[in-house]
Amino acid sequence: MQIRPCESEDHAGVDALLRAAFPEPGEAQLTVALRAADADTLELIAELDGAIAGVVMFSPATAKTGAGAEIPGLALGPVAVLPDYQNRGIGAALIEAGLDFIRTLGPTYCIVLGDPDYYSRFGFEPAPSLDLHWTGDPEDKTGNAFQVMALNGAPNLPRGTRIEYHPAFDIV
Ligand SMILES: CC(C)(COP(=O)(O)OP(=O)(O)OC[C@H]1O[C@@H](n2cnc3c(N)ncnc32)[C@H](O)[C@@H]1OP(=O)(O)O)[C@@H](O)C(=O)NCCC(=O)NCCS
Repeated sequence: MQIRPCESEDHAGVDALLRAAFPEPGEAQLTVALRAADADTLELIAELDGAIAGVVMFSPATAKTGAGAEIPGLALGPVAVLPDYQNRGIGAALIEAGLDFIRTLGPTYCIVLGDPDYYSRFGFEPAPSLDLHWTGDPEDKTGNAFQVMALNGAPNLPRGTRIEYHPAFDIV
């Protein structure tokens, strides 16, 4: 397996992968929207058997503290692996490679929305337990699905901080 940055000639393959991995086209549309908005901070693909078997994307996020400060960070997602290739470590390899790279960009945190059973293995923690909240869900109706991870040895964001995804996420 090879993990490498996504190139424009890979876009059709990534689109097909996302439509196969998710029941709805929202993530495929989101990926196109993030690229169009120049918000595709990092897009990595996993190639296996000559096919694009997995993809992970990272985009800008903004944390707004109660004191009015805005702290830039990154958001993980979408991440997907072709159904026939799932549960072979491809998703984990993509996420680890992505996190390794984005740490070099210097952000102090990364967010993700998904199953805590999966993302906790990479170091993500449920955001509500840290009194951190997603602007799209101020009452934490998604429970522990909204997660955050401090990067580069940064302290946790101040309690009460609300974090927003790039506006392209409004599509999903
Ligand atoms: C989620 C996904 C990217 C994981 O990639 P993968 O290559 O299949 O997963 P890995 O091989 O790295 O890890 C497998 C482990 O993750 C677990 N896992 C996989 N998907 C999971 C999910 N959605 N929730 C919780 N655990 C999950 C498996 O049970 C397995 O656990 P184990 O190591 O204890 O046996 C992939 O399953 C996928 O594309 N799913 C459909 C799209 C999706 O839901 N994307 C994530 C949206 S937040």
